[in-house]
Amino acid sequence: MAPPSPLSLILLSLPCLLLLLQAQAQAQTTGPAPAPPGPINITAILEKGGQFTTLIRLLNTNQIINQLESQLNSSNQGLTIFAPTDNAFTSLKPGTLNSLTTQQQVALLLYHVLPKYYNLASFESVSNPVRTQAGGMDGGEYGLNFTSLGNNQVNVSTGVVETQLNNALRQEFPLAVYQVDKVLLPSDLFGAKPPAKSSPSPSGSPADDTNTTPAKKPGAKAPSAPSKDSSSGPYGKSSVGVGLVLGVVLLCTSFLS
Ligand SMILES: *[C@@H]1O[C@H](CO)[C@@H](O)[C@H](O)[C@H]1NC(C)=O
Ligand SMILES: *[C@@H]1O[C@H](CO)[C@@H](O)[C@H](O)[C@H]1NC(C)=O
Ligand SMILES: *[C@@H]1O[C@H](CO)[C@@H](O)[C@H](O)[C@H]1NC(C)=O
Ligand SMILES: *[C@@H]1O[C@H](CO)[C@@H](O)[C@H](O)[C@H]1NC(C)=O
Repeated sequence: MAPPSPLSLILLSLPCLLLLLQAQAQAQTTGPAPAPPGPINITAILEKGGQFTTLIRLLNTNQIINQLESQLNSSNQGLTIFAPTDNAFTSLKPGTLNSLTTQQQVALLLYHVLPKYYNLASFESVSNPVRTQAGGMDGGEYGLNFTSLGNNQVNVSTGVVETQLNNALRQEFPLAVYQVDKVLLPSDLFGAKPPAKSSPSPSGSPADDTNTTPAKKPGAKAPSAPSKDSSSGPYGKSSVGVGLVLGVVLLCTSFLS
């Protein structure tokens, strides 16, 4: 067939161009600017979960939050945090935390951290036991065992307690935070004693938490346009504009042909 004249090409692509421009304008007014990958605020993530005040307090008094946040910033492995609920702490035997030295408390808290990012699915292929952030301290083992039950259901076991990974407060590299309904007691600290199994109180249903991780769109990353090159006068802008229009026209024609 005969190649279409340039004029008909432009006419054909006009509706397409208008649609694209409209979509772009909408994206600019509705979507908030894509958040820069700044420092991650772990406290804020836990606060949003609404039932982690004990954990936040413990992490803060032991200066662990700062350590984890700077680790997040510098490591390329990411982190996984298991966050016991306030209920999990209150259902511990009285005095459990107070029986620990400060160093043991820190080890207990770091036992809830894996020095690597895991989404739920990746626990399926993990090789047990998994080293935690507490591993190596005091020469202890501080490993965790994971059992994938399918359907994104994962159990974690310390040898002393076993519980399910609940509700992901965040599951996006470099940080995953999973709610757990029991404090993960390391057998390195609690294994010697006979496991005093008090029946877990079924009062707090974790299922009523409709909190879901906000669907962030990492895809909205701005292409690294040459923001301010030396030719950013009116000429530079208009030539970018012409280029854009030409590009859109080409794009549209390729769609239309
Ligand atoms: C992190 O979030 C908490 C709670 O929202 C806030 O109090 C704190 O100032 C934040 N920290 C930083 C460094 O932004
Ligand atoms: C994060 O790391 C960069 C360099 O890797 C550093 O310049 C920046 O100060 C760090 N930010 C924080 C909050 O530690
Ligand atoms: C974890 O799994 C390893 C290997 O499967 C096993 O040897 C170990 O006893 C388990 N530990 C706990 C605490 O379940
Ligand atoms: C997973 O953990 C829960 C406790 O939260 C327990 O009731 C269940 O039996 C465990 N499942 C497996 C397969 O170990």
